Amino acid sequence: MEKMIVEGGRPLEGEVVISGAKNAALPLIAATLLAPGVHVLRNVPDLRDTRTILSLLDELGATWRRDGGTLFIDSSSIAYTEVSYDLVKTMRASVLVLGPLLGRLGRAKVSLPGGCAIGERPINFHINGFERFGVTCHLEHGYVEALIDGRLQGTTVYFDIPSVTGTENILMAAVLAEGTTILRNAAREPEIGNLIDMLVGMGAEIDGKGSSQLTIRGVDQLQPAEIEIIPDRIEAGTYLIAGAAAGGEVTVRDCRPEHLPALLDKLAESGARVTVGERSVTLCLEPRDRNRLKGVDIKTMPYPGYPTDLQAQFMALMTLSNGMCVIRETIFENRFMHVAELRRMGADIRTEGNNAVVTGRGPNGLSGAPVMATDLRASSSLVIAGLAAANRTEIARIYHLERGYENLVAKLSGLGASVWKEKA
Ligand code: EPZ
Repeated sequence: MEKMIVEGGRPLEGEVVISGAKNAALPLIAATLLAPGVHVLRNVPDLRDTRTILSLLDELGATWRRDGGTLFIDSSSIAYTEVSYDLVKTMRASVLVLGPLLGRLGRAKVSLPGGCAIGERPINFHINGFERFGVTCHLEHGYVEALIDGRLQGTTVYFDIPSVTGTENILMAAVLAEGTTILRNAAREPEIGNLIDMLVGMGAEIDGKGSSQLTIRGVDQLQPAEIEIIPDRIEAGTYLIAGAAAGGEVTVRDCRPEHLPALLDKLAESGARVTVGERSVTLCLEPRDRNRLKGVDIKTMPYPGYPTDLQAQFMALMTLSNGMCVIRETIFENRFMHVAELRRMGADIRTEGNNAVVTGRGPNGLSGAPVMATDLRASSSLVIAGLAAANRTEIARIYHLERGYENLVAKLSGLGASVWKEKA
C-alpha cells in the first residue's frame, strides 16, 4: 500500500496535458469484441482500470499490445467464458463486455457487480434492455448468464434514468441485432459519442449521436476499428479546480472545452478567470485574489448538466470560499464519502441526505491532516484540499486515484506542487 504526501500552500503555475478519457477507453476497448481482426485505439490512458479491462479481454481470448498511447487489439479468436467476480468486483465497468459478447456470440456470463462506495449501482437497466432483444438472463450465484438462440431482435429500449454504461451496453448489443433498435432517454455523455464514432467506423448504422434518442439499424457483421479516444473531461476539470483552490494560473492542454460547459460556468461564477481556447482552458486566480472566491451552488445532473464526477472536487474548492453554498448530488445515493475527510482538514460542511451545505472558511480555512481515500473522485478532492491547505496532508489508499488519473504526481509536480508517494 502507498500513501500520497502533499505539502500545500503553494500556487500552481503552468500547463498540463490531458490524457485520453478513462470512461471512453473502457467501452471502446469492450467494443473491439464485436468484430474479429486488429483494432487500433489511439490516446488510450495507461490506468489501473484500462489494465483491468485488458486482462478481461485476455480471459476472453483476445490478444493485444500497447505501443505508447496506441493499443492494437485482435479479438479474432474470442471464446465464450465467464468473467469472474474477482475482476468485476475491482471494476464495475467489466459489465460492458455483456453487450458485445451477446452481439457477437449470443451468450455471456458475467459476475454481477457488487455495490461500491458511492452507491448500490444496480444493472437492472442493462438486464431489462437485453431481455427486450429476446435474450434470456439467468441471475444465480452472483452471476448473470445471458443467452439467445440465433440473433438479437431489434426493439425499443427506454431508460428510466439516462444510464451511461447502460446506454453503451445496449448500443453495443443493438449494432449486430436483426432489424432496427431505438433507445429512448439515452445518456448523452461525450464518451457515448466517442463510442458511436467507433461503431460507425466499424460499419454500424446509428443516428441521433448527442441526442437522447438513438436509432440503430442492425448489420450482419462489422469490421475492425481505428479510433482516437477523446480527452478526459473529468481529469481536465480536476486540474482546473485544483488551480482555483491553490491559486495561480493553470492551462489544461489537449482538452475539449465544449465537454465541460457546466464546470467552466461555475468556475467563472466563483470568481476565477476562465479563458477558453480551441483545445485548451486557462484558469487564473491570483493567490492574492483567493479571498474573493464566492460560494456557488451546484446540482449534479446527467450530461450536459454538472457532472457528478466533479462534485467532490468542487466541494473541496467551496470549503475555501468566503461564502456558503449548497451542493446537491442527484445521481448517486452515497457520494459524500469525502465530507468526513474534508472535515478532518477543518472544512465546515453539513450534510442532509443528498444535500451538503458548505460554509467556506476562506483561502486559509484548511489545514493539512492524515486522510483516507474512499473512491476515485473523493480521492482527487482530498488532493485538491491538500494543495490548498498549509503544511502537510497524507492521503492513504491512493490506489483509488491510480484507477483514473494518469501520471498524477508527475503532472502536479509539473505545475509546481510538492507531492510524492511513500510506502504507507
Ligand atoms: C458511469 O457510471 C461512469 N463510469 C461513472 O464514472 C459516472 O459517475 C456515472 O456514469 C454517471 O455519470 C463509467 O463510465 C465507466 P449510470 P455508470 O448507469 O454507467 C442508476 C468515475 O468516477 N442505475 O449512469 O455505472 C445508478 O445507480 C465513475 O469515473 C440503475 O439504477 O452510472 C445511478 O444512480 C464513477 N440501474 C444512476 O442510475 C442501472 O441499471 C446513474 O448511473 C444502471 C444505473
